[in-house]
Order: sequence, then structure tokens, then C-alpha cells
Amino acid sequence: MSLVPEEIEQLIEELTLEEKIQLVHGEADPEGLATGYLSGVERLGIPELRLADGPLGVRARGHPATLFPASIALAATFDPNLGRKQGVAMGREAKARKQDALLGPGVNLIRVPHCGRNFEYYSEDPVLTAAFAHSMVTGIQSEDVIATPKHYVANNQETNRASVDVDVSERALRECYLPGFKAAVDAGAGSVMTAYNSVNGSFMSENRSLVTDVLKSEWGFDGYVVSDWFGTVSTVGSANGGLDLEMPGITREEMWEVFGLELDVDEEGTVFDETEDMSAGMPDMSNTKWFAEPLAEAVRTGEVPEERVDDMVTRILRQMDRIGLFEGDRGEGNSTENDHRSVSESIAARGTVLLENDGVLPLADGVDIAVVGPGVREITTGGGSSEMDALYEVSTAEGIEDRANGDVLVERGLPKVEQVSFFGRDEDDTDQRPDPRLEDAVEAAATAEVAVVVVQDAATEARDRENLRLPGRQDQLVEEVAAVNENTVVVVQSSGPVELPWRSEVAAVLESWYPGQSDGDALAAVLFGDVDASGRLPVTFANERDYPTSTEETFPGAGGEVHYTEDLFVGYKHFDVSDVEPTYPFGHGLSYAEFSYHSVEAVDERQVRVTIENTADREGREVVQAYVSSESVGEDRPVRELAGFVPVDVQAGEIVTVDIDLEDLAFAQYDDSEGWTDLEGPFTVEIARSAGDTRLEVTL
Ligand code: GLC
Repeated sequence: MSLVPEEIEQLIEELTLEEKIQLVHGEADPEGLATGYLSGVERLGIPELRLADGPLGVRARGHPATLFPASIALAATFDPNLGRKQGVAMGREAKARKQDALLGPGVNLIRVPHCGRNFEYYSEDPVLTAAFAHSMVTGIQSEDVIATPKHYVANNQETNRASVDVDVSERALRECYLPGFKAAVDAGAGSVMTAYNSVNGSFMSENRSLVTDVLKSEWGFDGYVVSDWFGTVSTVGSANGGLDLEMPGITREEMWEVFGLELDVDEEGTVFDETEDMSAGMPDMSNTKWFAEPLAEAVRTGEVPEERVDDMVTRILRQMDRIGLFEGDRGEGNSTENDHRSVSESIAARGTVLLENDGVLPLADGVDIAVVGPGVREITTGGGSSEMDALYEVSTAEGIEDRANGDVLVERGLPKVEQVSFFGRDEDDTDQRPDPRLEDAVEAAATAEVAVVVVQDAATEARDRENLRLPGRQDQLVEEVAAVNENTVVVVQSSGPVELPWRSEVAAVLESWYPGQSDGDALAAVLFGDVDASGRLPVTFANERDYPTSTEETFPGAGGEVHYTEDLFVGYKHFDVSDVEPTYPFGHGLSYAEFSYHSVEAVDERQVRVTIENTADREGREVVQAYVSSESVGEDRPVRELAGFVPVDVQAGEIVTVDIDLEDLAFAQYDDSEGWTDLEGPFTVEIARSAGDTRLEVTL
């Protein structure tokens, strides 16, 4: 039975101040599993609370779980239903590992292509981001696990993330950076994690206007606001600003002990000293225990009203109760990994984007293949708190070997790409294999009918990418293979946009992001056409200098400030008003089938009906996109905005009709004086395959 409000009020009455303080800052998990932990108050039957990373699957040391594809790969499916399925799976697996809160999804907008955590986020577009934030949170919470959308808000880079002040307009916050969080709250998220950075002069963990006035008062958020780890910057400012829970609440030494890690500290006490540029992206880990004794003292002196602490505790107890923690031991949930294996694989396959194809794909059965690339014998993931042990791993090469009926030659060609790990994976020097040689890869490619070159970037939390090129000599590997095999297929496994200088010299290009544990199986399914290539770009691909954040003040900032001077013009909204064409537009993705767009009609002012036909001789999945524009907007607004999208499976020769709901966000504008107002019509709705390929139009 769950507690009624009066019972929670009764508990607050009976708790001593010390016990209340114990409930609002973390401790070390005695079982060494949880990333964040509250020991509860046994005297009053208040249970423990365990919080675990992360957006790509549950990290509970010693208890592997399903490693899902990068969040950007999920967004590339343009299918929020897959997001809900992943959320359900992660919720089940969290509960089965006694974790009560999952520290995800990451819902920050992809503002700059270099951001080291783009693989943990969804898109450059707020409507697409909000759709996945909503579906993922719905899935997680449906399993009685607390979802923790993060990092609230405007944590769009890793460089100096714990000190940088983001100078951003209220309009851009409202229309671009907040919608993902609003959707997560509307989906019933029980918690929100504040970002390390400061926004418009106030650190997020003590940012009263965004945490109390917007999140709690305006949106009605009744869960708890938890800081990022070592991201609480004060006692009085944070408590009175609306922060409810300080994590980890322990010292760096205690934290590393929980993770079973040796503390790698140089004389300045900097962790990660072996890669100096990491420390620029790490928080000051001496920054802890603000909500321990100092908070009790602040209550005693009256600087923090005890009612505020009561509200903090109430918000936490309410979420504990909501997920059934007061109903006694929840026991071991039923995590059926095998189901989740298929969920992870289908997301990876569906999220794979076919950027170029001269007809070499899909591959015929029996074809002889060379698979080359530095990471083909491993799965590809990013570095940082999203790292975890996967229950099951299928390397890129292994998946292709299992699926192919012809000969498969495998050559790495280059040394492994340097990858940062927070958990010591990068110190794994057990690799006894002979050094790979580029010429071996080229020779293997020359003898095969098809050469599949798998290349990757190396993104991590706490550090942004220095540029958008592939690390090391991977471009050279592609060029040398393409020179000896006209059927060269390049598979890019990256965290976000990368520059592809050789794209016109090869037969096909696939973007598969970080595909998660089923890496090779998902890729093989797409290469052989077992599933249609149905991914679409959730971010624009362009040359580094052509993005609107290519000056130092816009990224990574200078003098402790970063200026979002592009305002609303993020991603395709910038390229729509730029005289530079992107390499591949937002929403781009080829299919193995062929779609013709027959008609569109307006059902009402928030829905259009589109009829398309699959004119090919094989099934395909199309993602029908709807962009809205209005003649009445000024130059300070984008010329059009994504309003809706629908993925639809269409059999060969079939004609289907789909209804696309158009999101209010695409018809609204925010400004400081008026708040939210509707844009003036009439509106044109473009029905498109991508931001660069409009097929039909209708006026609303
Ligand atoms: C990290 C990350 C956050 C993660 C938390 C716990 O620094 O910013 O995403 O959930 O700390 O590991």
C-alpha cells in the first residue's frame, strides 16, 4: 500500500533535523553498486535509495546489463516507440539490480558537433529531442524506477563544464534547450538532475529562477532535483534555490572506493591527470557535503528555513513511495535480458543511416567480404559515466562473419583508436595481437568482392572533440582501400557529425553511431538488407567551419563565458538561412526501397494526412517529416521548424496513408515580455524526406 500525504507529513514531523539532513545528501553504498546512495532512516521505516547510471544501460558494478546504442542512434530511428521499449527494458534491469533511480536520459540539445557527450543526447532539434525524452521517461517510470532527465540545463559542451557561464537568451532557452526537460517532466519523471554549468550568471545547482520558478512552480514538477556529482556549489544558495538532493555527498576517495578504482591523484589532487585536458572538464571533487552539517547549521541560524528542508525530504519520500519502496523489499525484479537483446539490436539497426549508396548495398548472400578497421574486433562505445559492462557483445567483424555466407577476411589495418575510460578500460594492455599493418588491410580489400571499412571517432564525457575529423590515419585507410576496391562500403561509428573527405570516392557510406552491444549483428542486418536502412540524421553533417558555433566566443567560450549568439539558429535552422549547403541535411537517410509522395491534406490545424507509395520491389521503412513555416515571421526566427514525423513500414508496391500530428512548439514563439504566443498564420507545411528534400506542401 502506498503512503497517503498525511503519512508522509507524519514522517516529516517525527524526523529529527539530523535525520532530515541525512536524507538530502548521499553516502557510499555499502554494497558498492550504486552511483548514488541514501541509507534511509531505519527507525521510521524509511528505506534506502539507490541511484545508478546511465542513459545507455544500468551500471551496477559486477552486474552486467544490456548496453543499448548511443542515444543519438535511438533518435536516428525517429521512432519514439523504440525509446519507450528501451526505457521499459532499462527500468526492469535497474530494478533487478536493486537500483531505484536511473540517471538518464540525457536530454541536452546537440548544439555543437564537437561535444564529447553528443552520443548521450538525441538531436539538434527540440521537437525530436522532446519526443524521445517523453517516450524514454514513460518507459523507465512504467517499471517503477525513477527517471532522471539530465543535465538541467544548457550543458551543451564538456570544456570547462563545471565553471563555464552560459550566456543564452530566454527565448532560446524556452524554444530550444528546455523543451526536452519539459517533455520529460510531462511524462512523469520523478527526478531532474541539474547541470554543472552556470546559466546567465547563476550555477544551475543554485539557479532559483530555472529550478524553482520554471521547473517547480511553472511546470508543476513535484519530484526531487538532484545535483550532478560534485556539482553542488553551496549550502544556502542551493537549498534556497530549489536543489533537493546533493550527490554523491561523499568525498572523492569514498567515491573511488565505491567504484573499486585506484585514485589517480597528482600533487594538485587532480584526477585523470594522465590526460591533462580531461581535468578541464571534471568538477572540483573537493566540492562536497554542502548538504551535510553545513545545512543543519544553516537551518539553526535561519538562513535556510526548516520548511525548505521538509520540502526537500517530502519530495524524496514521495518518489520513494511512488515506486513502492515503502511496500517492503522489492526483491529481485525479472530482467529478461534476451528480450532486451533484441530491443538493443533493433534500435541499432533502425538507427543506422544510409548516407550514400551507388547500389552496392544491400549485399548479396555469398559475396566475399573484407572487413577492415581498427575497432572491428570490439564493440564501440563512448567514455565516461555512461560506460558499463554489457551482458553480451558482438563485435563488428563477428556479426558480419556470422551473417555472411561467403568468405570474410578481417584486418584491423591500424592500431586501436585511443579511447578514454572513467573505469580503467583504457589501461587494458592485455592485447597480445601483433601490430596491425595498413598494407594487410589494403591487400585483403584488394582480393575481396566488397570491402567494408569501419571507422570511428573517440568521444568521452569531460572532453570535447578537437575537430570533426576521424582520429589517426583512418581517412588514409579508407582512401587506400577505395583505391583497390570499387565496392568499398564505409561504416562510420561516431558520436555525432564527422567530416568524410572521401565520401565521393566510395560506393556507400553508413553512419551507425555507437551501436551498443549488438554492434556486428545490427550492422550485418543492414548490410545484407535483412532490414531496410531506415535511420535519418538527427543532426546536420557539415564541415566544421560551417556550423554557427565556429568562433571561440560561441564555442568553447573565453574568459569563463560561452555565448549562444546563434540564438534559435541551431543545426538546420542555421543552414536554412546560410548560403552554405550542409554535407548531409538534418533528417537525411537513403532507403533500399523507393518512395513516391502522392498527396497531403490538412485534417485540422494540428494534423496532416500524407499518402506515399513504395515503388520498389522490396519492403522499406520511410520516415515522413513535416516542417512548418509562416510568412509572417521576422528575420529573428527560423524559416521553418520540424513539427512532426512518422516512421512507417511499406511493403513493395504498397500505397499507405499516415497522419502526422504537428507539435504546438513549432507554431509558438517565446519572448521575454509576452511569454508564449502563437505565430501568425497562414502556415505552410512541407512534407519531406529531410530538411533538404521537400516533396509536397499544404497550407494550414
Ligand atoms: C557525471 C555525469 C552525470 C552522471 C553522474 C554520476 O559526472 O555528469 O551524467 O550521471 O556524474 O556518474
